[in-house]
Amino acid sequence: MAALTFEVAAKCSKSKARAATMMLPHGPVQTPVFMPVGTQASLKGLTPDQLKDLGCEIFLNNTYHLGLKPGQDVLDTVGGAHALQHWDRNILTDSGGFQMVSLLKLATITEQGVGFLSPHDNTPMLLTPEHSMSLQNSIGSDIMMQLDDVVATLTTGPRVEEAMWRSIRWLDRCIAAHKKPESQNLFCIIQGGLDPELRRICCKEMVERDTPGIAIGGLSGGEDKESYCNVVDACTSLLPENKPRYCMGVGYAEDLVVSVALGADMFDCVYPTRTARFGTALTRHGVLNVKLLEYKNDPRPLEDGCKCPVCKPKEEGGMGISRGTIRIMATRDTVGAHLLTIHNTWYQLELMRTIRQAIVEDRFEEFVQTFFKDKFGNEP
Ligand code: GUN
Ligand code: ZN
Repeated sequence: MAALTFEVAAKCSKSKARAATMMLPHGPVQTPVFMPVGTQASLKGLTPDQLKDLGCEIFLNNTYHLGLKPGQDVLDTVGGAHALQHWDRNILTDSGGFQMVSLLKLATITEQGVGFLSPHDNTPMLLTPEHSMSLQNSIGSDIMMQLDDVVATLTTGPRVEEAMWRSIRWLDRCIAAHKKPESQNLFCIIQGGLDPELRRICCKEMVERDTPGIAIGGLSGGEDKESYCNVVDACTSLLPENKPRYCMGVGYAEDLVVSVALGADMFDCVYPTRTARFGTALTRHGVLNVKLLEYKNDPRPLEDGCKCPVCKPKEEGGMGISRGTIRIMATRDTVGAHLLTIHNTWYQLELMRTIRQAIVEDRFEEFVQTFFKDKFGNEP
């Protein structure tokens, strides 16, 4: 059962890019979409209202983090993650296994689930497909992800195929354990490493399970761009037109543009917000490390013409803050990081809105050319 509709509004005549509207329980999401990542509750440094003001329609939470803190009983008492975070738009939760495998190097995978030592007291814990579903039901996310067996992207050999088949078996267990299919959408996750044949088998098996949306996992782990594109291209060719396709962990602007051209609709990544905390601003001409001495007293905004609340001139209702001022803040306290988080999140969301508009007006090809010229042709 699906608690979403996905209506394709326009298709690019030169690539596989499409623009759609996904109706979810907490409102519409215009795709292609980038989903910012809030690790605990809310996005680090941003209030829910600030996130809403940036035009964000959906953001990510992690089952792993919410399950540890505040924990399932608190989630059940307050009525889920929307109430917990005062967020009335959509939430997508990742299932938790990937975070454990990538954060806790000690995670061990068996047929039962993902075993790990609690970061609180080192007691052994086990995240099974059933437990992940139960937690995500308590969280009340609009889109929940299956528990999958993720191997490092560059892994080769039998482990890749084992992880793929296990992910398919775990999908069946997730579907069976999901208690609220009428209000929460469970997405499958295609695995199979960089092997096109494994990806093909996995697509076929998972498409048969008929989940409301489909993710492509196991990427963005240091593979070369060609392998990445081949996998995304191979998968989108085998996926139904009428369901959203989510490329997990993708967040560099150029990868978003290319992946949209290959037919992907949804993306998430910690990159824009994490890099903000290190003093880096994203701009259409590339990244800018605002902490550098050269930006001392620089009166320009982070990006010329940016309409984010930080860069927009005061006369137009923005804060009109200069690089020089943000530099001072970023080197002395957390305000600079907050301002950069706002700008970077805006940059990413606005990029997707611009992409979408270009698809709707069937000038996406032209957009791609300008995008790459701006990005690699000029100084920031
Ligand atoms: N985030 C980035 N890649 C993946 C993946 O393959 N699986 C899950 N569950 N989350 C991810
Ligand atoms: Zn800005």
